[in-house]
Amino acid sequence: MTDREYKSLVAEAFRAMKKAYAPYSGFQVGAALLAEGTEDGKPAVYRGCNIENAAYSPTNCAERTAFFKAVSEGERSFRAIAVVGGMHGQVTDFAMPCGVCRQVMQEFCDPDTFEIVTAVSEDDYRVHRLRELLPEGFGGQMLR
Ligand code: THU
Repeated sequence: MTDREYKSLVAEAFRAMKKAYAPYSGFQVGAALLAEGTEDGKPAVYRGCNIENAAYSPTNCAERTAFFKAVSEGERSFRAIAVVGGMHGQVTDFAMPCGVCRQVMQEFCDPDTFEIVTAVSEDDYRVHRLRELLPEGFGGQMLR
């Protein structure tokens, strides 16, 4: 991906963060997932935000919201996800995906090519590969 493409995916994650429903923690997260696209090979971006719950454990992270939206629309192939987050929407640090979200990425993505882009601004972003963030991940091949 080019610098311009990373920046535009980060910008989408910032837009997604505005929709966060985080009345309990106050920590707002936005994600933008770049998928291959289901129609005529045109890449598509799926936004997600965290959605909290008064019972706490039903809370869904921004990354999983984005993945579940995309998969439910027929997407199965993904290139990258941008993630931003901060208390009350003030992004001061790089928000890393939680372990559960990394495992969901492992289900659908090639760990050697899928990129996780964390950012504090459009100009200040870092790129990781899934294998780096989830080494020796458990996958469906173990069940065969
Ligand atoms: N959160 C995410 O949305 N993504 C992550 O990867 C880490 C945590 C959310 C869940 C919860 O609503 C809030 O951040 C505080 O944990």
